[in-house]
Amino acid sequence: MAVLVAYASALGSTREIAQHIASRIAVEMGKVECRSVEDIGSVSSYEAVVVGSAIHNQAWLPPAAAFLARHAPELAKRPVWAFSVGMSDALPKPFRKRGAAIQQARLTGVLAKDVPLRGHKLFSGVYEAGQMPAPLRVLFRLTGGQFGDLRDWAAVDAWTDEVTAQLANPAPSAPAGSAPA
Ligand SMILES: Cc1cc2nc3c(=O)[nH]c(=O)nc-3n(C[C@H](O)[C@H](O)[C@H](O)COP(=O)(O)O)c2cc1C
Repeated sequence: MAVLVAYASALGSTREIAQHIASRIAVEMGKVECRSVEDIGSVSSYEAVVVGSAIHNQAWLPPAAAFLARHAPELAKRPVWAFSVGMSDALPKPFRKRGAAIQQARLTGVLAKDVPLRGHKLFSGVYEAGQMPAPLRVLFRLTGGQFGDLRDWAAVDAWTDEVTAQLANPAPSAPAGSAPA
């Protein structure tokens, strides 16, 4: 089965998550290509697609949103999973889980308007102090916010394994909207 893992990344952390996902799927499924959304002319040669984007200002990066819109008719004919990479684990601890849940639910709704998704998962990426406007940094730290490489590779692996299991045992038809994976 030919699987595409497509990504949009501004500073590289989403690209590295996509590459990790692609390598892990390849162990079970064989042919997996990992490419920037901007390098993909057509998805018709792939049987399944995983697509992810960094989040900026509560939304996918424009090239990733354009990829979904442009390829929506072809994507709708094959299983599609999505992942988003943000900074919810940088938030002060009391807000992390709730912030992530709200962000994941909101983005799932936005993305599923373009393409039926088998699943959508939110991960944290790399969020360095320099990415936050200077006046906010001190306040953010004082209230328990943190900066750095926040990627939870075990969570990425667990989600990838759920996707791989579904690829290995395809469901009869794609549901409209998103599933838990
Ligand atoms: C300009 C800018 C805006 C951001 N906006 C958000 C946001 O709205 N929500 C969020 O969770 N993370 C936000 N982030 C954090 C990034 O999504 C996070 O750093 C991610 O790892 C970036 O992925 P990349 O390294 O692939 O570009 C923002 C980062 C930058 C630089």
